[in-house]
Parts: sequence; C-alpha cells; structure tokens
Amino acid sequence: MEMADESSDHIYLNMAIKQPRAQRPEAQQKVSRSSDPSTASCGWAVWLLRALSCLLLAVSIALGLLYFKTAKDYHETSFNLDQITAEHHNLSKTVADWKKNGCNQCPENWVLFSDVCYYFSLDKLTWNSSRDACVSAGGDLVTIQSSQEQAFLKHQINALHWVGLTDVVTEGDWRWLDNTPLNESTASWGKTPDDWKSEDPTGEDCALLNKTGLYDVSCGKKYECICEKVAPVI
Ligand SMILES: *[C@@H]1O[C@H](CO)[C@@H](O)[C@H](O)[C@H]1NC(C)=O
Ligand SMILES: *[C@@H]1O[C@H](CO)[C@@H](O)[C@H](O)[C@H]1NC(C)=O
Ligand SMILES: *[C@@H]1O[C@H](CO)[C@@H](O)[C@H](O)[C@H]1NC(C)=O
Ligand SMILES: *[C@@H]1O[C@H](CO)[C@@H](O)[C@H](O)[C@H]1NC(C)=O
Repeated sequence: MEMADESSDHIYLNMAIKQPRAQRPEAQQKVSRSSDPSTASCGWAVWLLRALSCLLLAVSIALGLLYFKTAKDYHETSFNLDQITAEHHNLSKTVADWKKNGCNQCPENWVLFSDVCYYFSLDKLTWNSSRDACVSAGGDLVTIQSSQEQAFLKHQINALHWVGLTDVVTEGDWRWLDNTPLNESTASWGKTPDDWKSEDPTGEDCALLNKTGLYDVSCGKKYECICEKVAPVI
C-alpha cells in the first residue's frame, strides 16, 4: 500500500508538471487520491478522453448551430427566390403588354384603339344611366371622330349600343358629347332618323350603333353602351 501511494504520488507529480497550470484542483485530487495503480497510470488517457469528448461536444454543438443556420438560410433563400420569381413574372407580363400595346395601358376589360380605351358594357341601361356609368368609370359615352374609329367599333359589337350622340337640345341637330356636329362621312345612319313619337311622345333623341350603322331611339329605352377614355400613359 505504501508502494502504491508512493507511485501514485510520483505520477501525480509528473502529471502536475506536464499539465497546464489551469488544471482544475478537483481533477488533480481525483488523480492523487486514487489508490488503484492501474487507474492512476492511465490518468493521461482519462484526461485525453475528457479533452476529446469536450472537443466532440463542441464540434457537435457547432455543427448543430451550423445546421440550423443553414436550414434557416435555405428557407429564407427559397422564400426570396419564390418572391423574385413572382415579381419577374409580373414584370415580364408588363413588358409583354407594353410590346403589344405600346406604352398605353388600358384597365382590365377595356380595349385599346389608337390611344383610346373602350369599354363595351354588358348592362342594359337608359342613355342617361349609361352615360352616368361611363362617367363613373372615368370616361364618357363614345364620340366617334373618324371612319377608322367607327369601323373598329362596328367590328367589336354584335348588338345595338348607345353612343354619345343626341339631338335632345335641338331636334334634327345631332351632336356628339363634345358638341361637334355629326359628319355623315365619319359615322353614318343605318336608317335615316325619323324621331318616331308613337312609343315615346318626346320622340327619338338618342343614338345607337350596330354593325349596320346609327339608329335614333327613345333615350328612355335600355341598351348596352360604349364608353371611352384616354389611355393612361405609363
Ligand atoms: C403581381 O401582380 C399581382 C396583380 O397585379 C399582385 O397582386 C401581386 O402582389 C404581384 N406580385 C409581386 C410579387 O409583385
Ligand atoms: C337625362 O338627364 C338630363 C340631366 O342630366 C335630364 O335633363 C333629362 O331629362 C334626362 N333624360 C331622361 C330621358 O331621363
Ligand atoms: C367630314 O369628314 C370628312 C372626312 O373626314 C371631311 O373631309 C369633311 O371635311 C368633314 N366635314 C365637316 C363638315 O367637317
Ligand atoms: C342593326 O339594328 C337594326 C335595328 O334594330 C337592325 O335592323 C339591323 O339588322 C341591325 N344590324 C345588324 C348587323 O344586326
């Protein structure tokens, strides 16, 4: 027993010299108190294993942190990628629209023709109510200013639509909403206006357009209409 104690003290001495000064006292005590020579003689191995397990622990914590950070980065990156893809899709669509329509961009369901947007309503309303609906949408009932415009409009419609033409102020003096008189080489009658009074004693003071041409009708009747507004320049 004396011998074992001596040898352990001897090893402890060696250890104390070899080990860094920062060695914790409790660790030193464990080694010095050990009365089993086999345990004492592999004290360096225990220290090495402890050091290795500490190192492994540190590495696995670091790897764990790295994994979470990478997973988070990946999630954020793929999220950003989705967003960028969506924005790219939107921009591509806008550029495609510009190529198709020039820089003038009509609202959805409005049709562009030479810098003017047209809306062909689906509601059947009186001439006054149709005009109100066009004004609410930021436009007015259409004023036809060229034979090309009339040809375009005739091509777009299959039924009678109200246009911005009326002789309500002076019977027989047909005027567009901008007060220009009707020029029959620009827009022509399908049937010569007759101000027929049998159904409506006030006569027929508002104009409809279909593929054939213009027709005079009582303003109180209900039809679809054509609105127009200047195309916004983007
Ligand atoms: C794409 O456009 C739509 C409709 O114009 C809009 O609701 C959406 O927020 C846009 N998306 C992006 C990512 O800009
Ligand atoms: C249309 O509205 C005007 C005023 O904006 C009014 O004077 C006229 O009587 C109305 N016509 C019909 C048929 O309702
Ligand atoms: C009517 O339109 C034609 C063709 O655009 C034009 O030559 C003519 O001068 C116009 N008439 C009036 C009175 O504006
Ligand atoms: C246009 O309307 C008039 C009057 O209702 C009708 O006689 C004519 O057939 C219509 N034209 C077409 C192409 O439908």
